[in-house]
Amino acid sequence: MPHLLLSNFSIPSTPAQIGEVKFLFYAPPFLGVEIEKVRFLLQLKEYRKGKGGYPLYLLKYEKRTRPLLKLLVKAYSSFLQWSGAKVERENISGIKDKKLSPFLVTIWEDFSNIDILEIGFGTGRHLLQLAREYPDRTILGVEIYPRAIQQVLRRLEVEQIKNVRIINYDGRLLLERIPPNQLEQIYLHFPLPWEENREKRIVNLSFLKEIQRILKPGGFFYLRTDSPVYRDWTIEQLLELPFVEFTVKKNFTYKIVSKYEERWRRLNRNIFDIIVKNWEEGGRPVQNYQFQFKGKLEGIKPELIKGKRFLIHIERIYPMREGGELIKLAMGAYERVEGLFIVNSPTGSYYFKPPAPVEENWLAHQQLKRIYRCP
Ligand SMILES: C[S@@+](CC[C@H](N)C(=O)[O-])C[C@H]1O[C@@H](n2cnc3c(N)ncnc32)[C@H](O)[C@@H]1O
Repeated sequence: MPHLLLSNFSIPSTPAQIGEVKFLFYAPPFLGVEIEKVRFLLQLKEYRKGKGGYPLYLLKYEKRTRPLLKLLVKAYSSFLQWSGAKVERENISGIKDKKLSPFLVTIWEDFSNIDILEIGFGTGRHLLQLAREYPDRTILGVEIYPRAIQQVLRRLEVEQIKNVRIINYDGRLLLERIPPNQLEQIYLHFPLPWEENREKRIVNLSFLKEIQRILKPGGFFYLRTDSPVYRDWTIEQLLELPFVEFTVKKNFTYKIVSKYEERWRRLNRNIFDIIVKNWEEGGRPVQNYQFQFKGKLEGIKPELIKGKRFLIHIERIYPMREGGELIKLAMGAYERVEGLFIVNSPTGSYYFKPPAPVEENWLAHQQLKRIYRCP
């Protein structure tokens, strides 16, 4: 982790600006920074006494708001100038600015140019096959496991594949960010079956409704599973839909065999495909959620608030040196709680970085305003 070990400094009053770096507030141990409209927090931690008995401080970034290395290095160097700190040790020289892969997208992206989606692509064998098979289509892969993402990003670079976008997010929540009647194909191969816990299964009625909403008329959803429990569950859920056409196949060879499937084949397990064709048109457009406060949150304190579809965990409150407070919280859907900060200042409150624009975060935001009496 790139950091500086510092001594002998003082932190002048905020807000302040050194070159293009803005120091917005100091809420020990956090320092709010803004560069090129990107906000992140630096963290100053007492380390241990130096040889002469004087205190040493570690300056590093805060994980939830982690910036690109390029911005971090700019912030460090402006901080040194601003605070007069002496560098005792550092590990940033020689670290090259690691650029984010151009294939990696975020939940704030506009998804209106995506044609094909794969949910939970794992090692990415099938995703890469789709990219080769449909060179004139844009394919989006969503995965929650970061190591799988890294692997596939590397393969995309090596194979010079350009028509794939990757997102590290929960596939269930991603769907609501996709415009209606947008996709030609959606794949879900070997979802974790959660045979003992149906609440955790990706497929349920609201997932299937979203699938129907985002598929083009004539487009299809392709589920492949080795679990008879998951097969039956999916069929049961599909039949809850008011209007549906689907096909079930047993032990059909698919054009690509994933690592996961190889294992089941060796064990001679049956493999089932459920292919759902969509005939629905229309449906809810993507919501443009704005997460704003028109005042200050009142009486906020560490606590856990549970809603039906979301939770809010007020973790800790850090007083800001120049008045107000920095609130550390986690909120959102139970399966995708997001770590956030709110600046709660006498002149009004704002999210230091806005939450992902999905419905559960929006519901949590509304509840936050209600509980802490903020318009
Ligand atoms: C059993 S593996 C199958 C991987 C791949 N589809 C295959 O056929 O080999 C299930 C994958 O789904 C991913 N996953 C589980 N829940 C997910 C979710 N909610 N959103 C996106 N990916 C998810 C897991 O990280 C894992 O890589």
